[in-house]
Amino acid sequence: MKMVSSIILASIITISSHAADIEAGKAKSAVCTACHGQNGISRFPLYPNLAGQKEQYLIKQLKAFKAGLRRDATMVAMSVPLSDEDIRNLAAFYANLPIDNQTNEQK
Ligand code: HEC
Repeated sequence: MKMVSSIILASIITISSHAADIEAGKAKSAVCTACHGQNGISRFPLYPNLAGQKEQYLIKQLKAFKAGLRRDATMVAMSVPLSDEDIRNLAAFYANLPIDNQTNEQK
């Protein structure tokens, strides 16, 4: 029983130490803004909007690019240097951007 509770405790600590950091995600996103827009709204027809996208979906896609499961030369190159923590933070940052403004005007 004691072992079970220490395992549970260890997982809680692991989860909380891996909580996404939106500010860190914003800092990391500097390199992404050229294509995905500063507010996550892209100004190019072939570059998707990321603002307000589902967080888990963004994580899944970034990991898929990184693993080569989703193929796009640009995004594979962009995702390879990202750590799992970077991916979580970037996903949290984009998921939390508002989608009410669908123009690419920078606020
Ligand atoms: C040079 C342009 C460019 C840069 C820089 C760039 N991306 Fe992308 N991104 C794209 C393109 C193009 C696609 C669409 C890929 C496809 O067609 O599969 C894409 C797709 C994505 C997707 C999938 C969206 C979806 O709806 O499935 C995510 C997530 C993403 N990018 C995140 C990022 C992040 C995070 C960064 C910065 C670390 C970044 N991108 C930098 C061009 C770029």
